[in-house]
Amino acid sequence: MTVREILKMGDERLLRIAPAVTEFDTPELHALVVDMLETMAAANGAGLAAPQIGVNLQVVIFGSGEVNPRYPLELPIPRTILLNPVITPLDGEEQVGWEGCLSVPGMRAMVPRWQRIRYSGFDVQGRAIARTADGFHSRVVQHECDHLMGKLYPMRVRDFSQFGFTSVLFPGLDDNTDD
Ligand code: NI
Repeated sequence: MTVREILKMGDERLLRIAPAVTEFDTPELHALVVDMLETMAAANGAGLAAPQIGVNLQVVIFGSGEVNPRYPLELPIPRTILLNPVITPLDGEEQVGWEGCLSVPGMRAMVPRWQRIRYSGFDVQGRAIARTADGFHSRVVQHECDHLMGKLYPMRVRDFSQFGFTSVLFPGLDDNTDD
């Protein structure tokens, strides 16, 4: 178990398209997921995608089952390990909301996302997962899956007047990614 270094925006490895996992339930995959869980927990992340630790595979994790201290006003999201995810918007409705990213430390922006989605994929053993989500849960899933397509949230920002430093936008918020 290791807390891995999180790549920061500007690193070309964050811009790659990640290939699908083809073999489930392997020792390497389990070790990757353990490292990702440790790394996300150490950073109080709402989620983490494998490319953020330099592993170019369609693996994302998100949620803890508890309120995240970096997003204290949002509802808890169930702890999920999701491989080869597919996202389908349930309708055309978008919603803007605040996002941060462990690869873009110390910043937040208002980002448009689908309000309601269905997402599917597999767990680490290869068992199918299929859920619907809305609100912050939907937002986090879309944000993490974007990492698998080489997209970081600043690439989704439309209104740059709502993009800034967390310490200025939300003074007092416990965001340990400011450094
Ligand atoms: Ni991110």
